[in-house]
Amino acid sequence: MELDKIIFMTGATSGLGKISAIKAARNGALVIVLARDKIKSQALKTEFKKQYPDSSGKIEIIEGNLNSLDSVYSACKEVKLKYPVIDMIINNAGIMNFEYRQTVDDIEETLQVNLLSPLLICHMLFENLKKSNDPKIIFTSSGLHQGKINFDNLEFKNFFSSFKVYRQSKLGVILICRLLAKSLEKHRVGIYSQHPGMVRTNLGRSAGWFSKMIFYFMGKSPDKGSQTLSYLIETPNSKLKSGEYYADKIITKTTIESYDLEVAKKLLRTLITYLDQYIKSESGILKDIIH
Ligand SMILES: NC(=O)c1ccc[n+]([C@@H]2O[C@H](COP(=O)([O-])OP(=O)(O)OC[C@H]3O[C@@H](n4cnc5c(N)ncnc54)[C@H](OP(=O)(O)O)[C@@H]3O)[C@@H](O)[C@H]2O)c1
Repeated sequence: MELDKIIFMTGATSGLGKISAIKAARNGALVIVLARDKIKSQALKTEFKKQYPDSSGKIEIIEGNLNSLDSVYSACKEVKLKYPVIDMIINNAGIMNFEYRQTVDDIEETLQVNLLSPLLICHMLFENLKKSNDPKIIFTSSGLHQGKINFDNLEFKNFFSSFKVYRQSKLGVILICRLLAKSLEKHRVGIYSQHPGMVRTNLGRSAGWFSKMIFYFMGKSPDKGSQTLSYLIETPNSKLKSGEYYADKIITKTTIESYDLEVAKKLLRTLITYLDQYIKSESGILKDIIH
């Protein structure tokens, strides 16, 4: 299939994202990959060229680290100027930490990488996205999204639990997608979350040997794990339902908590407080929502 699109993507240097990025570029897309690791970025480009030397598609790298809001802001500024129209934003990068870690912004790392930085990307690139004739935002969530948003201690300071922190971030992704779907409707922007299944990737890199074994033996291949993401990339908005969560390429039910738009609004208001200075200085979707 021909995919004549400009795609901004995170999490394409490894795992299931790498497969989907290469596939999109193979189909003709220009995939702009935000990546933190120069060696892995170069390897991604080389692998694509080696596999598909005749493809009209392209992979370009923009250096950035989701661990740093300044870094995300600067990378997006650069992309914004260079590509006036962006057809798709894919927030696929994600982490699962097995110990408490803080970013350079003094924020719990999972919250920042899985939720705050992706939201900032959406905000920063929104004006360019709006100009596409079929604009789309895709977030990679997870089947691990049970539980509640821990508003009293969003960063799980003092009683860190890797699963609770991870599940909260992925529940947050689903809630934000459902909530933003309403505001984005008038701009014709479709927004989706997706679950790839349990996939044999580097996600559990900081886990103990037992969890690593479970990932290894029970996980599917990154190729299979990339299928729902690639499906969402390739399918026009008219054939998808904005705000929904997809698994195995179909709309899938999630936990009761993940449909609560009042919780979603409270969460968005809370997340915006972390991003305040960036939102103020740049027009975008979050400014629309605040006013
Ligand atoms: N694997 C599973 O079973 C599973 C299940 C459900 C959902 N998911 C979700 O699927 C998505 C992809 O994960 P994966 O399983 O493919 O894991 P992965 O192989 O570890 O890939 C994660 C990607 O995110 C990037 N990334 C992480 N932290 C970053 C940062 N601070 N700045 C920039 N990029 C960063 C990584 O870059 P580097 O290459 O530099 O590390 C890598 O490209 C994640 O959102 C994950 O939560 C995975």
